[in-house]
Amino acid sequence: MTKVKTTFFCQKCGTPHSKWQGQCNGCKEWNTLVEEVIEKKERKGWVESKSTNAKGTHPVRIQEIDTDKEPRISTNDSELNRVMGGGLVPGSITLLGGEPGIGKSTLLLQISLQIEGKVLYVSGEESQKQIKLRAERIDLQNANCYVLSETVTQKIFKQIELLDPDIVIIDSIQTLQTQYIESSSGSVSQIKECSSELIQYAKKTQTPVILVGHITKDGTIAGPKVLEHMVDTVLHFEGDRNHLYRIIRAQKNRFGSTDEIGIYEMLSNGLRIVTNPSELLISQTNREMSGHAIAATIQGVRPLMIEVQALVSTAVYGTPQRSTTGFNTKRLNMLLAVLEKRAGFQLGTKDVFLNITGGISSEDPAIDLAVVAAVLSSYHDIALPKEICFSAEIGLSGELRPVSKLDQRISESKKLGFETIVTSKGIKNKFNDTGVHLLSLTKIEEVVALLFA
Ligand code: TYD
Ligand code: MG
Repeated sequence: MTKVKTTFFCQKCGTPHSKWQGQCNGCKEWNTLVEEVIEKKERKGWVESKSTNAKGTHPVRIQEIDTDKEPRISTNDSELNRVMGGGLVPGSITLLGGEPGIGKSTLLLQISLQIEGKVLYVSGEESQKQIKLRAERIDLQNANCYVLSETVTQKIFKQIELLDPDIVIIDSIQTLQTQYIESSSGSVSQIKECSSELIQYAKKTQTPVILVGHITKDGTIAGPKVLEHMVDTVLHFEGDRNHLYRIIRAQKNRFGSTDEIGIYEMLSNGLRIVTNPSELLISQTNREMSGHAIAATIQGVRPLMIEVQALVSTAVYGTPQRSTTGFNTKRLNMLLAVLEKRAGFQLGTKDVFLNITGGISSEDPAIDLAVVAAVLSSYHDIALPKEICFSAEIGLSGELRPVSKLDQRISESKKLGFETIVTSKGIKNKFNDTGVHLLSLTKIEEVVALLFA
């Protein structure tokens, strides 16, 4: 009997090892090695068969590289276009990750049905009939959308050669299998190999490819970490499955910023773009209760009003609990320390829970003041005035620091009916004619005096 060749791959980083060991040599993680059968046959991938099509590359002076002709292919979905930095780039590989049931397949099928040009939607998970049923549900028609139910990459490439699509969508990379490797689909080596075949195809033919990637329990894309390095753009589709809204954001983007978010709503007939996200994110009902504060933030280039909820209660155990959703816990601890020092609150004996509603997570430092206001509001059990919103960063000595793009924040607050925005001094009152009262304060003590005197 011929001996089968096996290698132990780290499921995290993909490093191969000749024998089993407890710790990976590459990423130093424990218990991540899994034995996989590898049996490379003679390779005859996309490149070889299509080599006539391939342009040989040679070094070019950097000044001579033409950047004008980087056309974008619009997905006809304003949210996705913005998150991707203007649309799909020819020859790019995009990985869309997200939990099961979040709506990845729905989003991509919707894109396939909206986009101009010939689309090949390859599904390794659903039959053509199931996809058709979904398309009927979404209720969009497109004569140029082709559907293929297949998992073997060589067979997919054969169909691609016949069809010559403008865009290829693969749902999902974990279901693909290349004939050159005999380990099962979804394993590290299969994922790596199939992706690299698809990347070669995308680069050689300048066809954009979108891959769906499953994510594991801890929220990372299943398979080797190298997959994320190999692709051009990594998008995450997230949000609470029980919530209506879904948020798409770029985790890595070679062709644009990673600050943008796109917000969708899952309806019975597919995903709809949320055009006024601030309205959705701010609840109108519980604003009369204590512990709620509204922050005027900027997500990417877009102003967004978000609601911060805090709950401060007496600690039952020795060490007080600090728990946050959508906000950095370390940052909360810092803000609580500032409050303790500057405003004399004994928060060391209190549990503090903080939540940003709607499944949003924000990195904008301007949210600090709203966090503090929500914590204080819950601490005193006094509701904040409904017409006030907040936008300022807080420094370690309790000073309010200026934020960027204040004019955009102000106009968004105005749109949503806020009358006052609390922010830092040092910003000229040139925005005052917008109709929103600008309350400029310098220190956290002043905020406390203003709200809870
Ligand atoms: P799906 O796109 O299959 O998620 P994923 O590919 O990320 O696993 O589906 C998501 C869920 O959305 C599913 O539970 C059914 C629901 N759904 C709707 O609510 N409306 C719709 O129009 C569609 C197509 C699905
Ligand atoms: Mg799916």
